[in-house]
Amino acid sequence: MAFDLVLFGGTGDLAWRKLMPALFQAWRHGKLPEGGRILAVSRQDLSDETYRTWLKERFAEVEDAKRPSDEEFGRFAALLHYLRLDLSKADDYQRLAAWLASSTGRASKADVVVMFLATSPDLFPVVCAQLGQAGLNGPNVRVVLEKPLGHDLASAQQINRVVRSVFAEEQAYRIDHYLGKPAVQNLTALRFGNVLFEPLWRRECIANIQITLAETIGVGTRGDFYSRTGALRDMIQNHALQLLTMVAMEPPSRNVADAIRDEKLKVLRSLKRFTPESVGRDVVRGQYRAGNADGKATAGLLEEANVPPGSTTETFVALRTEVQNWRWAGVPFYLRTGKRLAARDAQIVVNFRATPHAIFPGQNRANKLVIKLQPEDGLELHLLAAKGAGQSEALTPVSLDLDFDKAFAENRVGAYERLLLDVIAGRLNLFVRSDEQEEAWGWVEPVLKAWRDDDTGPRPYLAGTWGPAAASALVARDGFAWSEEE
Ligand code: BG6
Repeated sequence: MAFDLVLFGGTGDLAWRKLMPALFQAWRHGKLPEGGRILAVSRQDLSDETYRTWLKERFAEVEDAKRPSDEEFGRFAALLHYLRLDLSKADDYQRLAAWLASSTGRASKADVVVMFLATSPDLFPVVCAQLGQAGLNGPNVRVVLEKPLGHDLASAQQINRVVRSVFAEEQAYRIDHYLGKPAVQNLTALRFGNVLFEPLWRRECIANIQITLAETIGVGTRGDFYSRTGALRDMIQNHALQLLTMVAMEPPSRNVADAIRDEKLKVLRSLKRFTPESVGRDVVRGQYRAGNADGKATAGLLEEANVPPGSTTETFVALRTEVQNWRWAGVPFYLRTGKRLAARDAQIVVNFRATPHAIFPGQNRANKLVIKLQPEDGLELHLLAAKGAGQSEALTPVSLDLDFDKAFAENRVGAYERLLLDVIAGRLNLFVRSDEQEEAWGWVEPVLKAWRDDDTGPRPYLAGTWGPAAASALVARDGFAWSEEE
């Protein structure tokens, strides 16, 4: 299947850090369909050759295993082309249309054209409108939208209105790269491909669910963007909520995009709404101060480049919510994310209830399922076992570890590689529909508003710790603990 992939923001950070390495991996793994062309567009005046040289230099910064040899880059580069384009100029889109219709690098016409908007989202409306005017929105065109999709509900709705006026919903691929992580596929397979967990996957057997997306990095070079964004918008509204929907959704009737997305939407609609009072009680925001992360002395947010003095942007959020439906009534869902935390660790922990009656010594621990997204990808099932004959009857914790990275090593693909291949193949299952995305924005809005109205600001925490103590208190109040505190 011949495809054209047009990469808007072709010289930007996302393009060279994530997208080009992912395309290269897909090509290296032999998964990129034959006859593809990749066209990077941006405002700079570059030839194909200078663009390829520029990209080759950037690839030197990619981790070893994902870096092409000279010979590989040479062959991959044959797919790469470059076009200068001013995003606001109608004529330039005509030149784009002419390039797509041309036989540059390939004789036949593309079956699929992917417009990947790796630009600032402020530009999405203008790019979509211009693509429409240039007739570049036919049924074989797919548009990929990168986060952040808006800043609040109104701006997200505005972007969606323009996108929908040009493209049909099924042409729009909204990326949440967490959905491309292999652990998310494992979670769906575990829940809907096996009989074992489904009978237990409910309030009667589950005490609480914890979703942690912890990073050790700080805001790095993104001080300006981050201080306008904050952890709630950057990680909770999208990644953490998407994971929550995958854990809490009802079994879809079929493994097709809308059946899945309908179920995810129902979860979002069932989330307990925040009020000004419950924000004060159930949401903790924090900001890192100078400390020690990754074994090095590190600065606090306020000392980072391009962060305005006195910024009250949160770099940490922990919150408690509930999914108010028959399956989950009363089960706390704790979500937590932060920068400069004690470890890079993304995981979902399902804490089961204790047995109703204990007959063994040491039977004070409940079962726990840990779905690990990062740094490793796998599952851990924590059980209690007897040590063996002739010893005491006390039970001891053991865990069944499934290391998917090892077990399926040759088939593992990174999140962006997976998602890019899905766009080319037309599989929408792992992309976010506009109604889901708007529902998620609507849910975080009362928190954003309560914080705007409350000038106490975020609680400080030292870099290299697990965030403000109030985050532990949030969970302790219900009689639970974050998994690393148990
Ligand atoms: C991005 C956020 O969406 O996800 C970043 O904007 C964050 O701030 C990143 O660092 C985390 O992604 P990953 O895949 O490295 O966990």
